[in-house]
Amino acid sequence: MDKSMAMGNSQPPKSPLLFLLLNLAFPFFTPSSSAFASAAAATAPVGSVGADAAAAGSFVGVNIGTDVSNLLPPADIVAFLRLQRITNVRLLEPDPGLLAALNGTGIRVCLGVPNNQLLALGSSNATAAAWIARYVLAFHPGTNVVLLSVGDEVLTSAPSSAPMLLSAVLNLHSALAAAGLDGQVKVSTPLSFSVILDPFPPSQAYFNQTLATAYMLPLLGFLSQTAAPLMLNLYPYYVLMLNRGVVPLDNALFKPLPPAKEEVDPNTLLHYTNVFDAMVDAAYFSMRNLNVTSVPVLVTETGWPHGGDPRQEPHATRDNADAYNSNLIRHVLLERAGTPLRPYSTPSAYIYELFDEDLRPGPPSEARWGLFYGNTTPVYLLHVAGSGGFLANDTANRTYCVAAPAGEVDVRGLQAALDWACGPGKADCSGIQPGEACYEPNNVRTHASYAFDSYYQRQGGAPGSCYFQGAAMVTTTDPSE
Ligand SMILES: *[C@@H]1O[C@H](CO)[C@@H](O)[C@H](O)[C@H]1NC(C)=O
Ligand SMILES: *[C@@H]1O[C@H](CO)[C@@H](O)[C@H](O)[C@H]1NC(C)=O
Ligand SMILES: *[C@@H]1O[C@H](CO)[C@@H](O)[C@H](O)[C@H]1NC(C)=O
Ligand SMILES: *[C@@H]1O[C@H](CO)[C@@H](O)[C@H](O)[C@H]1NC(C)=O
Ligand SMILES: *[C@@H]1O[C@H](CO)[C@@H](O)[C@H](O)[C@H]1NC(C)=O
Ligand SMILES: *[C@@H]1O[C@H](CO)[C@@H](O)[C@H](O)[C@H]1NC(C)=O
Repeated sequence: MDKSMAMGNSQPPKSPLLFLLLNLAFPFFTPSSSAFASAAAATAPVGSVGADAAAAGSFVGVNIGTDVSNLLPPADIVAFLRLQRITNVRLLEPDPGLLAALNGTGIRVCLGVPNNQLLALGSSNATAAAWIARYVLAFHPGTNVVLLSVGDEVLTSAPSSAPMLLSAVLNLHSALAAAGLDGQVKVSTPLSFSVILDPFPPSQAYFNQTLATAYMLPLLGFLSQTAAPLMLNLYPYYVLMLNRGVVPLDNALFKPLPPAKEEVDPNTLLHYTNVFDAMVDAAYFSMRNLNVTSVPVLVTETGWPHGGDPRQEPHATRDNADAYNSNLIRHVLLERAGTPLRPYSTPSAYIYELFDEDLRPGPPSEARWGLFYGNTTPVYLLHVAGSGGFLANDTANRTYCVAAPAGEVDVRGLQAALDWACGPGKADCSGIQPGEACYEPNNVRTHASYAFDSYYQRQGGAPGSCYFQGAAMVTTTDPSE
């Protein structure tokens, strides 16, 4: 999650990410005689059993961080999650208040283990067991923890903790096993995409060799044995930013391209229409290089900032953030087309992030990755029709249908519209019957507003459903307040 390293500002970046990405080219390199070509051509569904299971339940979740001024109380955050029909969350920090508030909601929780706890967890089984007791068992089974994301980008952002990473993972896993929960709670560690080198075209990708033997092989062995996913933080935004003019913006934003402009991997002849899929497939090719074919990719972070320094980050805009996140949701939840390499397996992803973390230090964009401000006001309206209500309940920008102002409609016109709404219009008018909660004030105007809004909401706010021969109008002010 340490994105500041990739900001391309005056500070020379210390991270390998920039070095890596500057070497990318999307119009792909010329065809290569790489040894991976034959492996790549074999796109048969190796390890598809696990993949099918994953595809069946592909989801989009959200990351929740707490560097937010005036963070809502846990109960309010959980109420908001339910309102937005969010069923998968990744908690960047293990917050006992939030874990308690999630009790009984069925929301599936990926629980973050902070980097600064790895040393203690990796060096002691007892500490790992205490951690599991405190954050998992204490809330079990009412709070549905399904994943532990141990550390964050440790190999690249916190290399001094890297030697402890695997033992922390193993100790937490054995503590879960001792509690009989290892089948239910999978353990993995989110990696920065920068551990993958030469990712474009995807068939040429491989894990940084320095990390491969020491860390990736044992980690992948563990993930494969325990049916846990490879967690990746994956940001097409940075690929775009660090390759200005090379990667088309539309390609990063999942916008449709004319077929002639799709990127074709010269080794596999697979067509890539977006950067996200190419990055996921680069991870699969990197694993395949290490003979690992059964571990699915889980995208623990992806997203787009809605603001930043206009000179340094011209693509950090609301419109682009809206397009990226809306199209990501559509890609994963509606299209479900997998990736070109694994069309049967659509990777699940957690959007980074639910709330703007306005207290996060760093470049201006760092505090502007949220779908919502900390008070749940939407930063922009996602375009996610058909997602079953997921992230579609925009309470702050909700519209209502009410009676038009007195000067524009007379009482007879209002009464006629009210009669129509409660009769043929089938609005729910039970609340304005004598003795019911909304009967008072008993006048045509307030009763008409009640009935008009009922009709309008039942029509899903469709154009024309708040007209009533001119007796009604749309407003953003809640008439019941
Ligand atoms: C590979 O990883 C090592 C260890 O983190 C790092 O020093 C090196 O720069 C990385 N190589 C590339 C090409 O990013
Ligand atoms: C979760 O809710 C259930 C049912 O209301 C309750 O019995 C249980 O004690 C709660 N668990 C925790 C950890 O609060
Ligand atoms: C400690 O954890 C390791 C895995 O990290 C496990 O192999 C070992 O059995 C555990 N020891 C005890 C006493 O639980
Ligand atoms: C992968 O398998 C091939 C063929 O069996 C073998 O030559 C190679 O050493 C293996 N690579 C690793 C990293 O295990
Ligand atoms: C709310 O809706 C209004 C009118 O459609 C629009 O101008 C405004 O930008 C929307 N607010 C947000 C946060 O998208
Ligand atoms: C949106 O929220 C309202 C108020 O809580 C609720 O009645 C409605 O069912 C929600 N709609 C969706 C699509 O979740």
